[in-house]
Amino acid sequence: MKEIIDNLKIEFDNLLQNAGENYEELKVSFLGKKGKVTELMQNLRDIPGEQRRDAGIAINNFKQYVEAKLEEHAKKIEAQKLEREINSAERIDITVPTAEKVGSLHPITVVQKEVEEVFKSMGFMVEDGNEVETEFNNFDAVNVPRNHPARDMQDTFWLDNGEVLKTQTSAGQNRILRKYGAPCRVIFPGRCFRNESVDASHENTFFQLEGMMVGKDINVANLIYFMKTMLSKVLKRDLDVRLRPGFFPFTEPSFELDVTCPFCGGKGCQTCKQGGWIELCPCGMIHPEVLRMGGVDTTKYQGFAFGLGLTRLAMMKYNIKEIRLLNSGNLPFLSQTKTR
Ligand code: DAH
Repeated sequence: MKEIIDNLKIEFDNLLQNAGENYEELKVSFLGKKGKVTELMQNLRDIPGEQRRDAGIAINNFKQYVEAKLEEHAKKIEAQKLEREINSAERIDITVPTAEKVGSLHPITVVQKEVEEVFKSMGFMVEDGNEVETEFNNFDAVNVPRNHPARDMQDTFWLDNGEVLKTQTSAGQNRILRKYGAPCRVIFPGRCFRNESVDASHENTFFQLEGMMVGKDINVANLIYFMKTMLSKVLKRDLDVRLRPGFFPFTEPSFELDVTCPFCGGKGCQTCKQGGWIELCPCGMIHPEVLRMGGVDTTKYQGFAFGLGLTRLAMMKYNIKEIRLLNSGNLPFLSQTKTR
């Protein structure tokens, strides 16, 4: 038996040396159902009692040897293969753009990134908001309790569990105040939803970008400065802003912020309906009740907030007259931001 095994070992070593990637065949011919090692095992029963035990041990040792060698070989081959793939022509540079059909960012994404960059450069953090919100965050925490008439204007999609698709990015105010406390400077863009009759300027799904600055001695002049700087940078023109009185339950005083019409520079045109101004961003000083609900000490801190209509800003920047195009998935339309 020893001689048989020694010969088989020599045969196996030779075959393995030349096996290369075809070692599976070798494995079958030695360890398979009709393989040489298996055959040896089967022949054991013909060996007389005394010698059978030693022969069994020898065959087993050889079997283990074959298995170990094959495994070692397989690992070596796999490693060589990988090395070849890494170094060879198979290397693909995924950063090289394809010749055609390069994707583009959505117009709203482009504008959102621009606004974020400007605010970041002024020390603001950018936070994410939820799209599904609690009734408390969306309404109560911003001073719109149940039965407040302001809820009517923001009819939305309610879930069976009592939560809502958020109607305004203001829904993030309470969570952010609780997270950062005062002082803080945060912007939080997000997708909002309302039960709207859809037309060229109304959508049930749109984007806002909310901002809050809370600290000591924050006042309306700060609000005007930040908005003027941001809008002039994003619209790439030196623009003026003006405030008109407005009403929102979560700000006191509340304003409508207008910007000089970027299309006519304030002289009056079709876009600004000859007025020279475009209404762009509701804002105000955060209502003390909202700060209190957010855990802020109102004897020390105050702040401003604004709710920029990101969809509106994108439409203005790119002179888009039809809001529905933005959610349309219409590639010829959407890909125009590529070259801007
Ligand atoms: N959440 C308001 C809306 O969607 C917009 C708004 C107004 C946000 C005034 C503010 C604000 O932060 O101060 O109509």
